[in-house]
Amino acid sequence: MWQVWLHEDEAMTCLGFESTAHTIGVGVFDNECLANEKEMYTTIGGIHPREASQFMTSRAHGVVRTALEKSGKAISDIDCVAFAQGPGLGPCLRVGAGLARTIAHYYDKPLIGVNHCIAHIDVGKWACDLEDPLVVYVSGANTQVLGLKDEKYRVYGETLDIGLGNALDAFGRELGMEFPAGPKVEKLAREGKEFIELPYSVKGMDLVFSGILTAAKKLAGSVDDRDLCYSFQEHLFGMLVEVTERALAHTKKKEVLLVGGVAQNARLVEMMRGMAKVHEASFSVPPKEYNADNGFMIALSGQLMHDAGRDEAGDINQFWRSDDVRVTW
Ligand code: ATP
Ligand code: FE2
Repeated sequence: MWQVWLHEDEAMTCLGFESTAHTIGVGVFDNECLANEKEMYTTIGGIHPREASQFMTSRAHGVVRTALEKSGKAISDIDCVAFAQGPGLGPCLRVGAGLARTIAHYYDKPLIGVNHCIAHIDVGKWACDLEDPLVVYVSGANTQVLGLKDEKYRVYGETLDIGLGNALDAFGRELGMEFPAGPKVEKLAREGKEFIELPYSVKGMDLVFSGILTAAKKLAGSVDDRDLCYSFQEHLFGMLVEVTERALAHTKKKEVLLVGGVAQNARLVEMMRGMAKVHEASFSVPPKEYNADNGFMIALSGQLMHDAGRDEAGDINQFWRSDDVRVTW
């Protein structure tokens, strides 16, 4: 299906750089995924922006080289260069932007600044072969329920404070887990049996996670970790599914797409799938390699923008919202 919106005869090679938060990723798109290489920064505490950017700088050369080798392309074969222009952490964004700009200028190629959130959506649509899904984008820093209408993704509901993944990470830190804690919380939650009541806070169509995070952190150590992880997840995911269900009923879309790092959580997938089924909508989640931050999704969006005549790049924008982007591809 995606070949309908990306005509084969226009196929070219796009090199994409991801560096918004913790992952330095380099991907190559040429009508398919030719390479998707990455290195991820992990830490005991939260992400320290300067340290994360230093990590990226130290790994960038190797990641670019491996990506090109795996793709079978030489740098001179590349037709356009894309980078994640935002949102994200300033020092990290500058790593990918600087690399992409240097390569584009040196080899005289078009440079394209991609919105990281839209890239998560584009790659999800591409991987799952969808046309017009209701998108649940849930990652570390972002939690949004969106749908495309008149060339813009409209946000039907979103977090009013922190992202759902960040809530999991901050909670996990309290239990001594290193970043990213999401997968570790998921593992413990599977063994939880006792449901502990926590604050459940849906405000209209929006979500608030700081209250439940504080409550869960306060309980840490006084109850079984497994029960607490289980209950924390059930509340968070229940809140998100409730908002998504209402957006689905409102938009009457026929496809639900779950993207972003937290979409790797099997329990969230199970809950979303069940809800979509009740509304006779299809449910899709892309494979892990495309769902966590990666360079390929930036290359794909860059190529789509290029084909739509949108060779645009500006300064990095740490707060670039998904509903600010005109989507004409
Ligand atoms: P964005 O800039 O889009 O917010 P990000 O920087 O948060 O992206 P992603 O790779 O999209 O990066 O998501 C990372 C988040 O996903 C982390 O918070 C991590 O804990 C969470 N995560 C990863 N795997 C799981 C899982 N199995 N269950 C729950 N959360 C997970
Ligand atoms: Fe992301």
